[in-house]
Amino acid sequence: MIIDGKKFAQELRNEIKKEIESIKKTRNTTPGLTVILVGNHTPSEIYVRNKELSAKEVGITSEVIRFESSITQEKLIEVIHGLNKDKKVHGILVQLPLPPHINGSKIIEEIDPKKDVDGFHPVNVGNLSSGKDSLVPCTPLGSYLLIKNVQKNLTGLEALIIGRSNLNGKPMAQLLLKEDCTVTIGHSKTKNLKELCQKADIVVAAVGRANLVKGDWVKEGAIVIDVGINREEDKTEKKGYKIVGDVEFDSVVKKARAITPVPGGVGPMTIACLLNNTLKAFKNIN
Ligand code: GUN
Repeated sequence: MIIDGKKFAQELRNEIKKEIESIKKTRNTTPGLTVILVGNHTPSEIYVRNKELSAKEVGITSEVIRFESSITQEKLIEVIHGLNKDKKVHGILVQLPLPPHINGSKIIEEIDPKKDVDGFHPVNVGNLSSGKDSLVPCTPLGSYLLIKNVQKNLTGLEALIIGRSNLNGKPMAQLLLKEDCTVTIGHSKTKNLKELCQKADIVVAAVGRANLVKGDWVKEGAIVIDVGINREEDKTEKKGYKIVGDVEFDSVVKKARAITPVPGGVGPMTIACLLNNTLKAFKNIN
């Protein structure tokens, strides 16, 4: 089974849209999302535009505040404090990366945890790791929902997460621990990655190495989630490259019970989960 992330994300967006329509009717208010974009990093520009359009499509009031890369850390903090107090804003997202003179962790800590729709604030990170309700980072949340859609009960399954980032690997481990999986986190320095992978019922690859996970790494019937987005040279493509994941799709698809393609797997779920988190933040605040 090839997991259709696009279709699942569309279904989630339809549900969010319905709920927002009902909120608008009964309470005469709408969830609001503000995205802060600093500088002119091209991929960030594209992500932010997609976030804004997707938010509007489900009825979320969305605004992008743009700053030159020369903005000071103090000024950025001032803006965040203003948004923390703003009753019309329920979700705040500061697009990363930030310019080198700005301390990204410090900026994230200034966001009201209730409005932290990225789930990066230490309060949300702590709540997730204590098994409490929290705003959860969008990409691991999307991956988790795709896994749960394949199999509801994950109790006792062996899960291998490849990648230990704060954005992906670590929150993913927490989500699967909460489901009573036996979780292993492997990473670029892990020596026996292939052997660990061969034992796993669930593999989440989020390490940023093109085609790392091969068919002979994967147990028959495993669920394989590919979070990787890597450029691979391809002269037959107009741009001279194509986007591939961390999983060698053609060999792994023969072994896996379910697998996400790249593109069209986890990617579309990320934005849908941001909209979901904005709605959740709205409901927690109101
Ligand atoms: N840059 C790349 N991915 C992300 C993300 O999920 N959130 C934010 N804020 N910035 C990003």
